[in-house]
This record gives sequence, structure tokens and C-alpha cells, in this order.
Amino acid sequence: MCGVKCISFVLWIDILNAITGENIPKLEITPLNSVIHVGEDLKITCKVIDCPVNATFVWTSAMDKFLKAEIKNEHNVSHLLMRNISIHSDSVKCQTTCDRKILQKMSVIEVFYGPGTVTVSSNNTSVKLGEQLEITCHADGNPKPKIFWWKLGETEPEHQSQNNKLIISNASWSQAGWYRCNASNNVGSQQMSVKVIVVGPPNIPKIQLSHRGELKEGENISIFCSSDGGPAELKLYRQSQSAATGGPNESAVLLNISSIQITDAGIYICEAKNDFGIETSKMNITVKAQHSFSRNPDLPVAILPAVGSVSLLTAAGLLIRHCRKQARSNLSTLI
Ligand SMILES: *[C@@H]1O[C@H](CO)[C@@H](O)[C@H](O)[C@H]1NC(C)=O
Ligand SMILES: *[C@@H]1O[C@H](CO)[C@@H](O)[C@H](O)[C@H]1NC(C)=O
Ligand SMILES: *[C@@H]1O[C@H](CO)[C@@H](O)[C@H](O)[C@H]1NC(C)=O
Ligand SMILES: *[C@@H]1O[C@H](CO)[C@@H](O)[C@H](O)[C@H]1NC(C)=O
Ligand SMILES: *[C@@H]1O[C@H](CO)[C@@H](O)[C@H](O)[C@H]1NC(C)=O
Ligand SMILES: *[C@@H]1O[C@H](CO)[C@@H](O)[C@H](O)[C@H]1NC(C)=O
Ligand SMILES: *[C@@H]1O[C@H](CO)[C@@H](O)[C@H](O)[C@H]1NC(C)=O
Ligand SMILES: *[C@@H]1O[C@H](CO)[C@@H](O)[C@H](O)[C@H]1NC(C)=O
Ligand SMILES: *[C@@H]1O[C@H](CO)[C@@H](O)[C@H](O)[C@H]1NC(C)=O
Ligand SMILES: *[C@@H]1O[C@H](CO)[C@@H](O)[C@H](O)[C@H]1NC(C)=O
Ligand SMILES: *[C@@H]1O[C@H](CO)[C@@H](O)[C@H](O)[C@H]1NC(C)=O
Repeated sequence: MCGVKCISFVLWIDILNAITGENIPKLEITPLNSVIHVGEDLKITCKVIDCPVNATFVWTSAMDKFLKAEIKNEHNVSHLLMRNISIHSDSVKCQTTCDRKILQKMSVIEVFYGPGTVTVSSNNTSVKLGEQLEITCHADGNPKPKIFWWKLGETEPEHQSQNNKLIISNASWSQAGWYRCNASNNVGSQQMSVKVIVVGPPNIPKIQLSHRGELKEGENISIFCSSDGGPAELKLYRQSQSAATGGPNESAVLLNISSIQITDAGIYICEAKNDFGIETSKMNITVKAQHSFSRNPDLPVAILPAVGSVSLLTAAGLLIRHCRKQARSNLSTLI
């Protein structure tokens, strides 16, 4: 502030002091800077030199975070001991009064701490097929944590993430799942997982027959109905007959017909339905008569979850009643 004049003034005082044998009191603070980890203890020493009388000390904190500090004064030295440092960087000031002269020095404390609780912000983690979803991850820490989004099951960070944000633009079924935000710095890391749900009408389901070529009476067949889209309830049924229903989370249902009869021929419909729409596929099953074949008694037709095999109980629950006309007796048997 005072430039050359000031320096010469100080020099002049020094010279004067040298002549008079009087020294100007000086204040020393150690350390001037400290970098510590949260939870550690820190000791700062303030020492007054060339004070002809006993000095008095006052410690203050710029952010008032170190209220727990212990102060120990011994002669012309004062020690500030802070135990279990909390997560705020701060600076402390040592002020001393020596013979009515006031001197002060600062010591800067930088506290390194690992990422705190990770939070994510998004209005909604459900996204409609084809639409956009942004999820932001926040984590406090010093040094500032680096944030990566990972889709669980993938080996590399989500390439669509930038500036702490996971961005799904044009949502597809394959983007549904769990995403993890990993906030890390050189002190530690914290994670938070989010489930992204994609909603939309089901894809057109697939209907397939276990059999190739012409179907003959008496053969055992299976009809598969499957959907690879989002969650949908699957139904597999013969046109104009009551529907057979799969569980809401099953990606396929299976219809076994033992010893197929001519009367079993017809249009079979595989239907995938959810709150956003309904899609169907059809198959015309024709059966060729084969008189020589001995017939089995009526067998129940079961619809079973074909993949991801659920429990037997679920399977039993899915057993449906199938009505088949008896050609020989004039009875309709309900099994
Ligand atoms: C300075 O402090 C010491 C010990 O704390 C004490 O014995 C002494 O009397 C003090 N001197 C003055 C001038 O206050
Ligand atoms: C404080 O420092 C001055 C000068 O360095 C010295 O004369 C005095 O004795 C010191 N006081 C104590 C209590 O050490
Ligand atoms: C340090 O402080 C934290 C909270 O600030 C507390 O949970 C912990 O028990 C303290 N540790 C010790 C050793 O006092
Ligand atoms: C979240 O909802 C608020 C209002 O509820 C809206 O202002 C904001 O744009 C929405 N953000 C996103 C990312 O959809
Ligand atoms: C979240 O988004 C989905 C799809 O856009 C929508 O169906 C749902 O109602 C939304 N939920 C809320 C709470 O906004
Ligand atoms: C969104 O994705 C679908 C299917 O992957 C694609 O057909 C369509 O062109 C995409 N739309 C945009 C705007 O990228
Ligand atoms: C988070 O990231 C850090 C640094 O890249 C890594 O060491 C740590 O293993 C990651 N944690 C998880 C759960 O992915
Ligand atoms: C059809 O399955 C039954 C048992 O369910 C079996 O007895 C019969 O031999 C099978 N018929 C053919 C043609 O495979
Ligand atoms: C379908 O799946 C969802 C989530 O995976 C689960 O919460 C729900 O209970 C399942 N429903 C049935 C009927 O299994
Ligand atoms: C239906 O047929 C498949 C093979 O085509 C078989 O694995 C399954 O056990 C059969 N289910 C019933 C109930 O007969
Ligand atoms: C199913 O196929 C049979 C034989 O190919 C044919 O006669 C019948 O008209 C077809 N049914 C429908 C609804 O297309």
C-alpha cells in the first residue's frame, strides 16, 4: 500500500531500533497453510517475538467453524488445537496485543473430504419410449468429486453422461434398468443407484409353432407367444375362444397341445397388452386328418411360462381349461 516510502520507513525504524536497542514485536504463525483430512486433529501455533511484555492472544475463525478448539497460552506463545476437524475449509486468525500494539496473522486450513451423500435429481425416472430423460447427480466433496454414470451390467461409463447428468434422449427398451452414479475424489467414493423405467406400447409379439411343415392329427405341438418389448401382459388363445393369460412380467407363454385334432385347427392369437397399447400376431393352424392314429383321451392344455421359468405354483396357476369337442361321444368335456 505504502510502497517505497513505507519500506524506507520500516528500514528507518529498524535502524532506530538498532540504535536504541529496541525491537519491533513480530508475530509468527505456523503452519501458514495446512491440508488435512476430515476427522484429523490440527495444531496451530502463534508466537510473538520481541515483545517486551507478556502478550495477549485472540483466535478467530473466518467461518466460525472451529468452536471446539482448545487454546493454550504459554508466555509469548499460543497454541490452538482443533480436534476431529469437520468438513469445512476455513482460515483462522491469530491476533496478539503486545504493549498496546496489535498484530495479526492468518493460517489457511484446507480440509479434504470424500464425497458426501450422493443425491440425484429428476422429476421422474420413468420415460416414454422415444422421449428424453435427464438425471443429475450431486455430491459434495473436496477436492470436487468426479462423477460417472454407469449402467449396471455394462463395463464402461455411460457414454451419454455429461456434466454430472445422465441423458437418455430417444428412450428405447434396452435403456431401461439400473444406473449408478459414482462420485469419487482422492479421498473416497460414494454411489447412488437409480432405476430407469421405460414405458410405452408393447412391441408386436411373436407367435411360433414347434412344428415345421404339415401338421397331422395326433401330433404333439407347442405354440409360443413371446414379446421382447417392455412389460406387457401376454395372452395366447384361439380366436373366438376364451383367452389364456400369462403373468404380467413373463416374456413368453407356451401352449402345449397333445395329440392335436382337426377341431383344434383355427386362428391362434398372441396378444401383448399394457397401459399404453395392444399388439397382436396371428397364426392359422391347419391340421391334416390321419385316420389310422389312435387317439389319446383328452388332455389338459397348459400354458406355461416358457422362459425365465417361474415357480411351479405360478405354472399351476396358469393352467387353463381347454374345451375340446369329443368326436366319438357327443359330449363336451370340460377339464
Ligand atoms: C508473564 O507471564 C508469566 C507466566 O505466565 C508471569 O510469571 C509473569 O509475571 C508475567 N509478566 C508480566 C509482566 O505480566
Ligand atoms: C516475551 O518475550 C520477551 C521478548 O522476547 C521477553 O523479554 C519476555 O520475557 C517474554 N515473556 C515470557 C513470559 O516469556
Ligand atoms: C468426530 O466427529 C464426528 C462428527 O463430526 C463424529 O461422528 C465422530 O465420532 C468424532 N470422532 C471422534 C473421535 O470424536
Ligand atoms: C421438473 O418439474 C418442474 C416443475 O414441476 C419443471 O419446471 C421442470 O422443467 C421439470 N424438469 C424436467 C427435467 O423435466
Ligand atoms: C413420469 O413419466 C411417465 C412417462 O412420461 C408418466 O407416465 C408418469 O405419469 C410420470 N410421473 C410423474 C409423477 O410425473
Ligand atoms: C429413436 O430410436 C428409434 C429406434 O431406435 C429410431 O428408429 C428413431 O429414428 C430414433 N429417433 C431419433 C429422433 O433419433
Ligand atoms: C467409483 O469410482 C472410483 C474411481 O474411479 C473407483 O475406484 C470405485 O471403484 C468406483 N466404485 C464403484 C462402485 O463403481
Ligand atoms: C404325445 O405326447 C404323449 C404324452 O403326452 C405321448 O404319449 C405321445 O407318444 C406323444 N405323441 C407323439 C406323436 O409324439
Ligand atoms: C412384475 O415385476 C415388477 C418389477 O420387476 C414387480 O414389482 C412385480 O411384483 C411383478 N409382478 C408380478 C405379478 O410378478
Ligand atoms: C410343453 O412342451 C414343452 C416342449 O415342447 C415341454 O418342455 C413342456 O414341459 C411341456 N409342458 C407341459 C405342461 O406339458
Ligand atoms: C386357414 O388356412 C386354411 C387352409 O390353408 C384355409 O382354408 C382357411 O381359410 C384359413 N383361415 C383363415 C382365417 O385365413
